[in-house]
Amino acid sequence: MQMPHTSVLDPHSPQAQSIARLFYIDLSIAAVIFLLVTGLVAFAAWRFRARPGDPEPYQESGVRWLEALWTAIPSLILLVLLVLTAKTMLEVNPPVGKRKPDVTVVAHQWWWEYRYGDPAAVAANELHMPLGENWLLLISSADVIHDFWVPDLGAKMDAIPGHPGYLWIQPRQAGTFLGTCAEYCGTDHATMGIRVVVESPADFAAWRQHQARAPVPPSDAAGIRGGRLFAARTCRNCHSIAGTDAHGRVGPDLGHLGERATLAAGVLTNTPDQLRRWLLDPQHFKPGCHMPDAGLTDAEARDLASYLEGLR
Ligand code: CUA
Repeated sequence: MQMPHTSVLDPHSPQAQSIARLFYIDLSIAAVIFLLVTGLVAFAAWRFRARPGDPEPYQESGVRWLEALWTAIPSLILLVLLVLTAKTMLEVNPPVGKRKPDVTVVAHQWWWEYRYGDPAAVAANELHMPLGENWLLLISSADVIHDFWVPDLGAKMDAIPGHPGYLWIQPRQAGTFLGTCAEYCGTDHATMGIRVVVESPADFAAWRQHQARAPVPPSDAAGIRGGRLFAARTCRNCHSIAGTDAHGRVGPDLGHLGERATLAAGVLTNTPDQLRRWLLDPQHFKPGCHMPDAGLTDAEARDLASYLEGLR
């Protein structure tokens, strides 16, 4: 598999491109000012250094034209930066108008929920997007303030409870892009990873159709035992699986868990063995997270992992 992208200076959307361009312009202006100021300071210190027998230097209380000049020049520079920034902000996040969002992002402590409309589908921690399409993301939160940020693809957008924000992303390269929550949101803020999978429109349409369908439960003995265990335990109080009576919305939807690359918002690679270990002791892998230790035996955890990984 190709390495995921994770650099703010390696933009893969027009939005991220605009931000990177502004960064380089700002950096160039700052570099020129830095070199000019440090150069003049160094030159003055050398040229007007004290020599033995020098008289007291000439005392001056102010030069009006010079003060006006060094007020005017920075003001002008700041004005240029303001105009460039406003222009970039408009390019990156133009007014939404009547456009409906393509996906709703719901931030939770400490994972991400993605809700697609028509056909309705829900995913967790892995956002799939079609290559080349300019998407509008609605960014919201179920609890505290988070911040959705995928550096390669676009701007940061706060996820504020009761106050949805909008973000435009037009990915122009297929691949996996990593992001993270960029606003401190509690104990597991650091492990609230975002994976964006950008794929061809045809692959995306297939994924979305598949995601919208209730998963087919596994038919092997361990998977069947795990399914019974899932129904008997308290799992469904928090999790949902389409086609079953589990409709909880506190934790991630588990309908197509087996197809995701990671567990617990990027903490673990998704394999049956890692899932078994996670089920046995979630607090060991993600201390403070809302997934309790269900007191499973090793055999139960193995069956439950078989069931969840087998949902396709
Ligand atoms: Cu969510 Cu920081």
